[in-house]
Amino acid sequence: MTRLKNQEQIGEIGKSCVLLSRLFEELIPRVRPGVTPRELDRFSRTFIEKHGGVPSFLDYEGYPASLCVSPNEVVIHGIPRDEPLDEGTIVGLDCGINLNGYFSDAAITLPVGAISPEAERLMRVTRECLDRALEAVKPGARIHDISRAVYGHAKANGYGVVRQYCGHAVGFDVHEDPQIPNYVGPGANPRIVPGMVLAIEPMVNLGTGDVKVLADEWTVVTLDRALSAHYEHTVAVNHDGSVSVLTSWKYPN
Ligand code: MF3
Ligand code: CO
Repeated sequence: MTRLKNQEQIGEIGKSCVLLSRLFEELIPRVRPGVTPRELDRFSRTFIEKHGGVPSFLDYEGYPASLCVSPNEVVIHGIPRDEPLDEGTIVGLDCGINLNGYFSDAAITLPVGAISPEAERLMRVTRECLDRALEAVKPGARIHDISRAVYGHAKANGYGVVRQYCGHAVGFDVHEDPQIPNYVGPGANPRIVPGMVLAIEPMVNLGTGDVKVLADEWTVVTLDRALSAHYEHTVAVNHDGSVSVLTSWKYPN
């Protein structure tokens, strides 16, 4: 079931995460009014390949790009196209790298120019959900402690939490067991143990948590077309019991 990593393997996954973090540092200033999702995707692919990695989303279950670009009501898995991003948009960027067989995964939601106070607050609270979730990662706790941290903070702020898509373990593949839901449900609730590497990714909506997939079979949108935010980090539980957030960057705000 859960494929635990030894400390050396965690180190290799960490290198993949460092490269991914450097990519996000490059992407953040490139998100401006007028940039196109396809330009951001092309930049990501070139950057990853230049540094010896493989874009892990490209061709994954048929996904056609290296980066997911998810504006406004798009929750996740937006396919990068040529329509420029307008001022006032919020946009999710999600990417993963396979570096020498070790997989990283991370996401951020960014403002395009000046955005509304409601969008600003949604982004801040969703990021706080991720921060609280990361604090819940410790040996001996359980996966649902992560779920509860996300759900409780989002609900306390009046937001909808997406249930159809979850976080997950990562490191030897794009997605591994266990799933990490952003709500406490009836599913498996394994104990968190050393050697786990987890991609935690709250998806939080201004309206309800309900979503649907568009006809392109990838783009996930909110059913009520309200704004959605998404942040993700890869985190490791080390064999000395400490916890390391392996992806990191300077947020623009
Ligand atoms: N970004 C997703 C995740 O965080 C995985 C991407 S699926 C892909 O779990 F098909 F878009 F690659
Ligand atoms: Co993920």
